[in-house]
Amino acid sequence: MAQYRVDAEYVKEINDTHNELRSLISNKKCAPLMLRLAWHHAGTYEYDAIAKTSTGGPNGSIRNPQELNHSANRGLKTAVELCEQVKVKHPKISYADLYQLAGVVAVEVTGGLTIHFVPGRKDSLESPKEGRLPDAKQGASHLREVFYRMVLNDKDIVALSGGHTLGKAHKDRSDFEGQWTRDPLKFDNSYFVELLKPESKGLLKLPTDKVLVEDPKFRKYVELYAKDEKAFFSDYAASHKKLSELGFNPNYYSKLDKAVLGVVIASTVVILSYLLELY
Ligand code: HEM
Repeated sequence: MAQYRVDAEYVKEINDTHNELRSLISNKKCAPLMLRLAWHHAGTYEYDAIAKTSTGGPNGSIRNPQELNHSANRGLKTAVELCEQVKVKHPKISYADLYQLAGVVAVEVTGGLTIHFVPGRKDSLESPKEGRLPDAKQGASHLREVFYRMVLNDKDIVALSGGHTLGKAHKDRSDFEGQWTRDPLKFDNSYFVELLKPESKGLLKLPTDKVLVEDPKFRKYVELYAKDEKAFFSDYAASHKKLSELGFNPNYYSKLDKAVLGVVIASTVVILSYLLELY
């Protein structure tokens, strides 16, 4: 995915958008929906290791009605419309940055956890085919197939599933009903604490949540995060950043700038030595 040139003006717009999203998400209490938007926006990423090309990922294409109408995205139209209210005030910001920033802010306002955000994602309206997001009725091999396609690993799968500490399932959106934790507006490690209890009365466990305790490679992270919230927060922040940057190289411009600087310094040295030789 190509990137925007991020100049001082763009960074200022990002800071203003950040503040705008903070009040919108707090006032509307829509952090869970915004986090789900950011995840479904990025979670279509596919890397083809042979062709070394990629498709999908956080490029704003989820606003395309064709993609928004994919059955996995039921309910997300509201989130896209809420983001549009912010976009009209900050038209410079790419949709791709806006949706990812909304996900970062959702976690920030509900848990105080800071996820490092790098702007510069470019927009596309090219949507991937339906079927790239995980199916909650399937098991561990399906989860791995979906996340490995995004070049994410087992630790990322478990840490990111902790996103279900927020929000709830709605029968009319996913055929599931209920919330995963006692306080669905608080981002903490309670998803993992509840997951390890054999009986969590009144709380939801999707088949894809249950496999995290059944599969030993997943379970070791569930046990760690249930007892050590700090470890969860630090792994979650790293995995969320990875997810939000799929197909996007945030170091691109700094590397480019260094390369340009290198050429400028080298040319100056050549010119100076030429001049010195003349005199
Ligand atoms: C691991 C595979 C995953 C599956 C199968 C899955 C499945 C689901 C399902 C079925 C719902 C209910 C939707 C509804 O009825 O409204 C849901 C909601 C949600 N998911 Fe996931 N999810 C997965 C991963 C994630 C990840 C990685 C995140 C974020 C990092 C996330 C964040 C959320 C949130 C915040 C909600 C609540 C939305 C609301 O309250 O409106 N999920 N997920």
